[in-house]
Amino acid sequence: MITIPYLTALTTYFSYGLLFAFGQIRDLFRKILDRLRSSNLQGYAPICLGLEDFYVRRLYLRIQDCFGRPISSAPDAWFDVVERYSNDNNKTLKRTMKISRCLNLGSYNYLGFAASDEYCTPRAIESLKKFSPSTCSTRVDGGTTVLHAELEECVANFVGKPAAIVFGMGYVTNSAILPVLIGKGGLIISDSLNHNSIVNGARGSGCHSTPSHLEEVLREQIAEGQPRTHRPWKKIIVVVEGIYSMEGELCNLPEIIAVCKKFKAYTYLDEAHSIGAVGKKGRGVCELLGVDPADVDIMMGTFTKSFGSCGGYIAGSKELIQYLKYTCPAHLYATSISPPAAQQIISSIKVILGEDGSSRGLKPMSGLSGYDLSCICSHIGAQKLARIRENSNFFRSELQKMGFEVLGDNDSPVMPIMLYNPAKIPAFSRECLKRNVAVVTVAFPATPLLLARARICISASHTKEDLIKGLEVISQVGDLVGIKYFPAEPKKQEEEGRVKLE
Ligand SMILES: *[C@@H]1O[C@H](CO)[C@@H](O)[C@H](O)[C@H]1NC(C)=O
Repeated sequence: MITIPYLTALTTYFSYGLLFAFGQIRDLFRKILDRLRSSNLQGYAPICLGLEDFYVRRLYLRIQDCFGRPISSAPDAWFDVVERYSNDNNKTLKRTMKISRCLNLGSYNYLGFAASDEYCTPRAIESLKKFSPSTCSTRVDGGTTVLHAELEECVANFVGKPAAIVFGMGYVTNSAILPVLIGKGGLIISDSLNHNSIVNGARGSGCHSTPSHLEEVLREQIAEGQPRTHRPWKKIIVVVEGIYSMEGELCNLPEIIAVCKKFKAYTYLDEAHSIGAVGKKGRGVCELLGVDPADVDIMMGTFTKSFGSCGGYIAGSKELIQYLKYTCPAHLYATSISPPAAQQIISSIKVILGEDGSSRGLKPMSGLSGYDLSCICSHIGAQKLARIRENSNFFRSELQKMGFEVLGDNDSPVMPIMLYNPAKIPAFSRECLKRNVAVVTVAFPATPLLLARARICISASHTKEDLIKGLEVISQVGDLVGIKYFPAEPKKQEEEGRVKLE
């Protein structure tokens, strides 16, 4: 639950109201003008959806320079952002030849595998030569290389499940699996903060999984049964995420599992942002929160973040994975994951587990000054894991000390800084970019209307100097834009005078 200062809520509503009103007036004039000009589309319904189209034209396009910025290098700790210009008030943006080298605080490059890696990159290149960028086939007809088989074993072993199946796209992993797992008469209870891929795969009943609320919902649903007929639900699956990508919050897995067991509901855990990023050995929230993976029925995750690759996996019992291989459309009809991408995942998991041979003759990671992890960490993977935890906790606590409103839990590498007001979205993003710090801002519809934010993602590849530079810039811009909502005592957040939002 987030609380907003009354004044901020008021001005934020007012800003959106104003934007909306002006947008409507401009649309009205546009309609009148369109009438006057004869059009050959008369009689057709508009091809773009009404309100979405309005939102895009009148709100999003005004600040579109803050999104989709082209990058011309690997998404490492620093990367090259291509400069764009416009001669029509940013309605159309054109790329220039100029680039600016920016500190990257936006990519999900948690362990730093997204850039060239001493161990992974040569192996990925080898596999590119031996296989090809694409298998040009689905998994069932010619698209299963030895790499795919090895990858599935490697992933199952890594997450601690008997078997796993991999897909070429992370998003599809959720959106294609859920419909196969649940049919008529089944109920999916989906956390209200779940990713769009889950929402699209499910018809969620919105509840953010505080365990007590989940218990309430389960009890009610089991008592009520299916709508109209009131027959009992055939199957109930509770879907939660390990780390919520917009909130940086960890799920309360041990208690959720306890509730699910009590009601005999299955648990489906999406570890897109937590696998590889948290836990002593990078094994995700189960390891971090002391949950036995055997207690989670379906484990899902993506390779697009910590492993620096693409695609996703489902891990579970042998029967479940076998069933999915016979039924899941993403396995049967979609092209299998690209072999170099598969090799990248296999190699990065080896590094994380210390099976890359780096424990012999280990030299500290470059730029490790400021920490002394080399003596306690026996291999590069362990160094990376220690580093992302240190980096995240350092960055989060410094931001809080500066007076920002930062969401999420300790140990989470995702940290949203609340902006609230729509005018502050482009202001924050542009001012940071001017100072060579690239940040991601998120607003409606990805978040509730009032809760626009900047989302910082910390990486193990950030050095202490990088983090300090980032903090300096964010602090400066924070003063400029006015988003230090807790200037005096960050810990004692005043609850009075704030609007509660679920
Ligand atoms: C257009 O984008 C640039 C670069 O982000 C920004 O500085 C400028 O204020 C924008 N102009 C308008 C009219 O929004």
